[in-house]
Amino acid sequence: MGTVVLVGAQWGDEGKGKVTDFLAARADIVVRYQGGNNAGHTVVVGEEEFRLHLLPSGILHPEKTCVIGNGVVVDPAVLVGEIESLKRRGIKMARLLISERAHLIFPYHRLLDGAEEKRKGNGRIGTTGRGIGPAYVDKMARVGIRMSDLLEDATFSRRLEENVTFKNALLERVYDAEGVSLPEIFDAYREYAAILREYVADTGVFLHQAITAGKNVLFEGAQGTLLDIDHGTYPFVTSSSPTAGGACLGAGIGPRVIDRVLGIAKAYTTRVGGGPFPTELKDELGEKIRDQGREFGTTTGRARRCGWFDAVIARYAARVNGLDYLCVTKLDVLTGIPVLKICRAYRYQGKEITDFPASTSVLEACEPVYEELPGWEEDITGARRLEDLPENTRRYLERLSSLAGLPVALIGVGPRREQTIVCHDAFAC
Ligand code: IMP
Repeated sequence: MGTVVLVGAQWGDEGKGKVTDFLAARADIVVRYQGGNNAGHTVVVGEEEFRLHLLPSGILHPEKTCVIGNGVVVDPAVLVGEIESLKRRGIKMARLLISERAHLIFPYHRLLDGAEEKRKGNGRIGTTGRGIGPAYVDKMARVGIRMSDLLEDATFSRRLEENVTFKNALLERVYDAEGVSLPEIFDAYREYAAILREYVADTGVFLHQAITAGKNVLFEGAQGTLLDIDHGTYPFVTSSSPTAGGACLGAGIGPRVIDRVLGIAKAYTTRVGGGPFPTELKDELGEKIRDQGREFGTTTGRARRCGWFDAVIARYAARVNGLDYLCVTKLDVLTGIPVLKICRAYRYQGKEITDFPASTSVLEACEPVYEELPGWEEDITGARRLEDLPENTRRYLERLSSLAGLPVALIGVGPRREQTIVCHDAFAC
């Protein structure tokens, strides 16, 4: 299969966990390359449901290796919690490696995340409150603390003290909030270090050797293209690079070793948090899709905003990620809706535009231009081949694929691993 990057083609929550888990069966190694515990994957195996925030979805395959790359920000409390909870449930975990270059999240990052959202008031981003943004700010400001620092007592103690002194001044004097306790953090993180030490490695070297030896590697992006710090709906974005280029930076590989890029999109669109969303349905139909699709955040439990499939976004995602294929998830959720709409362009100031705009105010003023297609009533959750799908379902998929300009590789027709239709062997690299 070679090396495959899997990215979200919308605003996150596209069902990447299920697709990763499905494809992980073919991979030797699964790598997460950005984000942190703002992500949430729900993977259903048999009758059991697993909710993961930091561990790559491949962790449920004991014969694989899972890598947390340098581009991820790690909250060690969450990571230790996930490892221990899988162990408690008797799950035999994959081998886990954590990059020594990955940055850490500290309690002051979470407090700063909350304080900054409060300061923004109505203009808040609607972050997950996990300290992700402030941790990446520290990384870029060159004051962050990395996994390798955590393992060196003297370095860790010095860097933590510098950070806590400054962050407490910021929290108390700028945000009028309470600061954090240096000794408490120090002691807790010493304990995390003792547990995590065995997993920390130079993952760049490991991946290089594995790719050179012809291993199959799956790079799994968290969030989605429109939450990318550069290509997303800035400032309503996350602070990392979920797009395919982020896989190179966040895993420490060169672009030429990537064989395939797959984009995951729901058969409709959802978004959590603030920011423009042209095809949003603020009516009963939006609620129906939310209920049928169980569209509530894995991480925060927030209700997701729901809307029609947006092909302007799909084409944009195809371009900025260099997508080879689209995987369409949750198609079954649209069952029973008599008329389906697909947005093929936006109307802005009387003109049709087909390129996704950079400006938030332009995007807010854009009206979707829709095509309508007849829906279907039949239950499609048992379909395992394209031919099993009703004609109207196939027409909807064909139109979506042709407007996105991408062939469809996989289709999800239900939450379970086997509720998947394979149209193209996207792993035959
Ligand atoms: P942050 O990543 O917590 O800083 O949140 C920034 C924006 O990204 C907010 O709109 C969040 O709702 C959104 N976001 C972060 N992670 C996810 C995710 O995994 N799925 C969907 N939205 C996310």
